[in-house]
Amino acid sequence: MSNTFPEGFLFGAAVGAHQVEGGNTNSDWWWWEHREGTVCREPSGDACDFYNRYEEDIALLAGLGMNAFRFGIEWARIEPAEGEFSHAQLDHYRRMLDACHRHSVVPVLTFHHFTLPKWLHDLGGFASDQFPALFERYCDRAAAVLGDAIGVACTINEPQGLAQSGYLLGINPPGHTDDHVGAQAAVDHLLEAHRLGAAAIRAHTHAPVGVTLAIPDIQYEDGAQPGNTSLEIESRVNDQFMELARKDDFIGVQTYTRFRIGPEGSRSPGHDWSDWTREADETDGSTQMGYEYYPQALGGAIRRAWRSTGGIPILVTENGIATSFDDKRIAFMDAALREVQACIAEGIDVRSYLHWSLLDNFEWAFGYAPTFGLVAVDRRTFERHPKPSAGWLGAVAQTKRLPELEPSASSPSA
Ligand code: BGC
Repeated sequence: MSNTFPEGFLFGAAVGAHQVEGGNTNSDWWWWEHREGTVCREPSGDACDFYNRYEEDIALLAGLGMNAFRFGIEWARIEPAEGEFSHAQLDHYRRMLDACHRHSVVPVLTFHHFTLPKWLHDLGGFASDQFPALFERYCDRAAAVLGDAIGVACTINEPQGLAQSGYLLGINPPGHTDDHVGAQAAVDHLLEAHRLGAAAIRAHTHAPVGVTLAIPDIQYEDGAQPGNTSLEIESRVNDQFMELARKDDFIGVQTYTRFRIGPEGSRSPGHDWSDWTREADETDGSTQMGYEYYPQALGGAIRRAWRSTGGIPILVTENGIATSFDDKRIAFMDAALREVQACIAEGIDVRSYLHWSLLDNFEWAFGYAPTFGLVAVDRRTFERHPKPSAGWLGAVAQTKRLPELEPSASSPSA
């Protein structure tokens, strides 16, 4: 098998707007983080002050040798009140796209990454009948200003999980539990919103347009029956998005671990949402999220996406590990990228590897404890400190090949 990556392959890193920008005060997540009694550990606050420091971060990523950067635009800033669009905020995001081009970096732009404007939350959020048309209008207005500078456009990040986390499990806004009517409405509206939003964006850009899905590698052991664990429910929603994606230009694959199901049900740690507030210290070899260390999951996720979409191009738009051991992150990337090479050798059209994440950032309800970044961020001064893993991925990006495999190269160090 070849140890190289194809010409034109995109190597880079990803961030989500709310997780790095800071001060996203007009959003539903800001409201949720400050509400009494939720599972949130701490508010996002200034995050990484990326809103002001994006140019420095794009230059850093480019200086490391990477050629793609995935980031998001924030609906709550662009449409601060229903129907009122901010030219100043759209100009801000335009400057970010222009900065990418100045640094020869392909901008992979996410239109929606978990957060909603607070006014839309008040209207009923994803469960509101108005959601698809409001998302379509937002995509149209944003793409009209940004479209010609976009490298790749992602409509909605991980829509497959939003209904569960917001309406069944109560870990995301609006914080409902067991609201099956709300959850079904949210799924239906998110599917429709992707369809309408993708068409609205396409009208203003030649860039490929698609959706990015969290696709865990679900593995059934002997004697196991498909059931209703939360990831199996998400997986069935994924089937619906992948069916829609057959008409798209690519599918975004995002994966972090595998999910094993035995005859008695789930056998994987880190997916029991009732134990949401646990601290995972990695002493058992797992990750700070409590997930099993299993970088090979990326291969399973890519193959599933390829089969289920009838073979549309695949972009790996997120893959990574929350760990305080940076050599473990390097070993994880090495093993995951070998899966990408194996998939390419099988004839699968994989076009990118975007690592989650460029920066240590706000991990939603978990706050700042899990560190997913190639670059550490001083929480007081916002100074950036690249870790060895940042240099490692930059070198792979520049040489388009992986280091020769040593016997212990893909085993974790902690
Ligand atoms: C999300 C990110 C998140 C990451 C790590 C993905 O599900 O898109 O926002 O930070 O996983 O948990």
